[in-house]
Amino acid sequence: MVLALGAAVIAPAPAARPVAVQRSEAQRIYAKWCSDCHSVPGRPGSMALERKYHGNPSAILEQRTDLNPDYVKLVVRHGISFMPSFRKTEISDAELALVADYLAHPAAGDAKPGKAKAGGK
Ligand code: HEC
Repeated sequence: MVLALGAAVIAPAPAARPVAVQRSEAQRIYAKWCSDCHSVPGRPGSMALERKYHGNPSAILEQRTDLNPDYVKLVVRHGISFMPSFRKTEISDAELALVADYLAHPAAGDAKPGKAKAGGK
């Protein structure tokens, strides 16, 4: 019994999970660890990035279209300026992969909760 349970826990087969589930999981992790500093203008991360880029690209990480997953992982594991680094005991490699992919492809299938707007201008 214990062995069977263990096998189930270490074999989650993440690639088989639907994209929508991975996105909401990424958003949950992001909300827990990142959005305090990066959610909206006026947060420490947003202010630092506004100072750095002057709005181009956006100071709001979730609005960026120029991030790549490897860069996000590097920054999260090593920290940058006064952004702290995060350990694997805080954010696992699998979780970081989800968040990095989410930030690198923020628009993929995105419809802001409650603000879905279909096409048009
Ligand atoms: C304590 C506040 C804080 C937290 C929490 C935080 N960050 Fe940051 N982050 C910053 C600051 C400040 C900067 C800008 C550093 C600089 O001036 O270059 C930054 C920069 C970044 C950058 C670099 C953007 C660029 O254009 O170079 C990425 C990517 C990033 N953060 C991702 C994350 C992710 C993902 C998380 C959650 C796992 C997170 N941050 C949590 C404060 C934070």
